[in-house]
Amino acid sequence: MILSYTHTETKPMLNRPLNFAATQPALPSLKTATKRSSFLTIEGVSKVYPTRKGPYTVLQDVNLTVDQGEFICVIGHSGCGKSTLLNMVSGFANPSSGDVLLQGQRITKPGPDRMVVFQNYALLPWRTAFENVYLAVNAVHPHKSQAEKRAIVRDHLAMVGLSEAADKKPPQLSGGMRQRVSIARALAIRPQVLILDEPFGALDAITKEELQEELLKIWNEHRCTVLMITHDIDEALFLSDRLVMMTNGPAATIGEVMEIPFPRPRDRALIMEDPHYYTLRNQALDFLYHRFAHDDE
Ligand SMILES: Nc1ncnc2c1ncn2[C@@H]1O[C@H](COP(=O)(O)OP(=O)(O)OP(=O)(O)O)[C@@H](O)[C@H]1O
Ligand SMILES: [Mg+2]
Repeated sequence: MILSYTHTETKPMLNRPLNFAATQPALPSLKTATKRSSFLTIEGVSKVYPTRKGPYTVLQDVNLTVDQGEFICVIGHSGCGKSTLLNMVSGFANPSSGDVLLQGQRITKPGPDRMVVFQNYALLPWRTAFENVYLAVNAVHPHKSQAEKRAIVRDHLAMVGLSEAADKKPPQLSGGMRQRVSIARALAIRPQVLILDEPFGALDAITKEELQEELLKIWNEHRCTVLMITHDIDEALFLSDRLVMMTNGPAATIGEVMEIPFPRPRDRALIMEDPHYYTLRNQALDFLYHRFAHDDE
């Protein structure tokens, strides 16, 4: 059964003061998910890979609807199928059964309306930061003038604080800077959906927190829909509107969807002081390490 805190109960909280714990003593109760008006719909999706030992069902009957502008985090044990699921949203993979629909249109292939930021940056190492972003802009907007395209690149490098490093190549950049280039490249295309596959997993804690804040700021300004895989519960609690928790594979599915009710803009220190923070954190930990613990844990 998919459980969820209902959206309607938490939405009005967006305008409440930050220390909402004082005004909201109890968490909303868990309820069965209701159907939402959907921007992105994952409907009865299963994914089966052929292997030498026969068909291997990675995902079975995954259902999720996402509102436009929502920030979703996805968490689950390694190998459960998180990347496989988001690859079907980006269009790099297709479901074996079921549908993934964006504004009612079935997703069958990658497109500039959905951009992906990978953990390993996926930058061309022999091209500068500027050129890496320019190539993507040029591919999507071949008819814009060179001056327009260069302006888009400059604006997006500035947005992630990399104007000074525009002429450096990836090997001359730190991990955090490379990840900023990947984010600038994805955002420069103005995607409707930004897909981030463990984007900050390889970064040190301080750089990670800096980039989380930047990502929230950019998302707040541009309000694209974000789907982000993470292994970090605190990251998910700080960033997301909803945390999607996946069961273990094979035949993994969504086990629970947790609404994250903290008002925005979020202040990390303030939400971490909130007693609800630890209730939600413990609930996610319980899901991962008790209810769906890995065999070897
Ligand atoms: N092309 C493929 N052929 C066969 N099996 C595959 C293929 N791609 C992925 N798998 C299998 O599907 C399962 C899910 O893989 P996936 O990469 O989606 O996991 P994940 O949840 O993203 O893990 P991680 O957290 O380690 O990134 C794994 O068992 C993996 O071996
Ligand atoms: Mg993965």
